[in-house]
Amino acid sequence: MKKLINILAQTTLLWMIGCDSKPTTDDLGLVPLPSSISIAKRQTLINSQWAVTQNDRHKDLNSLKKILSENLYSDYGLLVSDFSSKTINLNVIEDNNSYGEEGYHLSVSDQTVQINAGTPNGIFYGIQTFRQLLDSGKKSNQDIQINQIEIKDNPRFKWRGMHLDVGRHFFDIGFVKRYIDYIAMHKMNIFHWHLTEDQGWRVEIDAYPKLTNISAFRDESLIGHYSDKPHQYDGKRYGGYYTKEEMREVVAYAQKRYVTVIPEIEMPGHTSAVLAAYPELSCTGGPHSVAKLWGVHKEVFCAGKESTFEFLETVLTEVAEIFPGPYIHIGGDECPKENWKEHDLDQQRLAAEGLHDEHELQSYFIKRIEGILNGLGKRLIGWDEILEGGLAPGAIVQSWRGMDGGIAAANAGHEVIMSPTSHAYFDYYQSEDKKNEPLAIGGFLSLEKVYGFEPVPYNIDPDKQKYILGGQGNVWTEYISTPEKVEYMAMPRMSAMAEVLWSSKKNRNYDSFTHRMNWQYKRLDRMKVNYRKPD
Ligand code: ACM
Repeated sequence: MKKLINILAQTTLLWMIGCDSKPTTDDLGLVPLPSSISIAKRQTLINSQWAVTQNDRHKDLNSLKKILSENLYSDYGLLVSDFSSKTINLNVIEDNNSYGEEGYHLSVSDQTVQINAGTPNGIFYGIQTFRQLLDSGKKSNQDIQINQIEIKDNPRFKWRGMHLDVGRHFFDIGFVKRYIDYIAMHKMNIFHWHLTEDQGWRVEIDAYPKLTNISAFRDESLIGHYSDKPHQYDGKRYGGYYTKEEMREVVAYAQKRYVTVIPEIEMPGHTSAVLAAYPELSCTGGPHSVAKLWGVHKEVFCAGKESTFEFLETVLTEVAEIFPGPYIHIGGDECPKENWKEHDLDQQRLAAEGLHDEHELQSYFIKRIEGILNGLGKRLIGWDEILEGGLAPGAIVQSWRGMDGGIAAANAGHEVIMSPTSHAYFDYYQSEDKKNEPLAIGGFLSLEKVYGFEPVPYNIDPDKQKYILGGQGNVWTEYISTPEKVEYMAMPRMSAMAEVLWSSKKNRNYDSFTHRMNWQYKRLDRMKVNYRKPD
């Protein structure tokens, strides 16, 4: 009798499941929106009676399986096993171009959730989508009811980045890892770690211990905004740095989530902190101090001294050993040239190299650094000022002063990352009603404006559009001193940027995005993220 009741109950449940109406794609709450989604009426119950399985051909699959099992437990208390007739199967099918480098196919049927990809990265993204499907599924006790579905997905751009400035304010590796979690859950794949600034150097370098004893700390910090005059300071020593072990830990953490860490070591400008410790590398010889005021400072590396390049070669060699990724960012932005104009050694270099002006001297500087990086097996990335005076031959340009630098670089056959202030500066205010927002650097960048970002402008020649690698949201931290405020400034604008960079242009629709974001906010609540609530 009990058996009969059980069968009846199960049949009724299946009937109920089968009869439910189909949700729309927007109801699924997927962010970023996949390339193609086909929803069936029939439904599947996911619960602890399922197993996560893998084909054992790829070495990453064990770790991916673990990530998925942990997610199922932490998100929904589901304790999946290794064996069951119902399986969530992870399958890397190498040498299959149909998935793309980072794409995946996800299908949900009665007894199987199948995630296929050509690479482990693709499986990781399939797992993120599956988690999101569970979020919008119907819950009862330990069961989650989701519609059967076929998803085929592939990113639009290969560079989907987020930046964090840890020079103006320092964030420990606990938070840096959380930030990488946010990047990964958005199917982004680049963490641009802005590690050195006028106000603090954050990287342990064995050959130059004063970088961490002296350059990593400033005497005090500005209170209020730069434009509040007279400037007032808090009188508190401030700073910190990452040991090599910590940075390696971050790199390993990011690798597991298919995020490449791009270290940025600023030069020739934004270097007051270095010069405070090693004044002999400046034009004047110092003395200098670690900056306590934001903005652009005129102390820069001397381009005339060989010792500058020897120092940087040693630093970059140690940095290259910590970060296995293919790129090192060398800044190159906002380098005042007045000290170069006034200093003999810089002028001698200019004459000896047959250069016409200080922009060409900066170009000489960057080209030499590119030679060092190439020798270390790395490619150079720089902000768009590196175009001035002539671009280093293999440099990748990160366009920030608008799109023009990126357009010029792409049209000249250089790879480009688009992160213009107009759409990608997440240190800008999120509302025009600035009084009701926490202090920010200025500007106004709404969620909708980020969503409207188009990284490939019309005036790039059609055959050069391929040079646009993608884009990036930047979080500069002059006015952001806590992890909670980083979260507030980055989210939800990061979700909009993620969709710009992942989803196809024709699928993008702001109303659909805001509808799906209701699920994303629930996810952020679950993760206790201090995101900005929508208006
Ligand atoms: C920059 O915002 N100075 C790259």
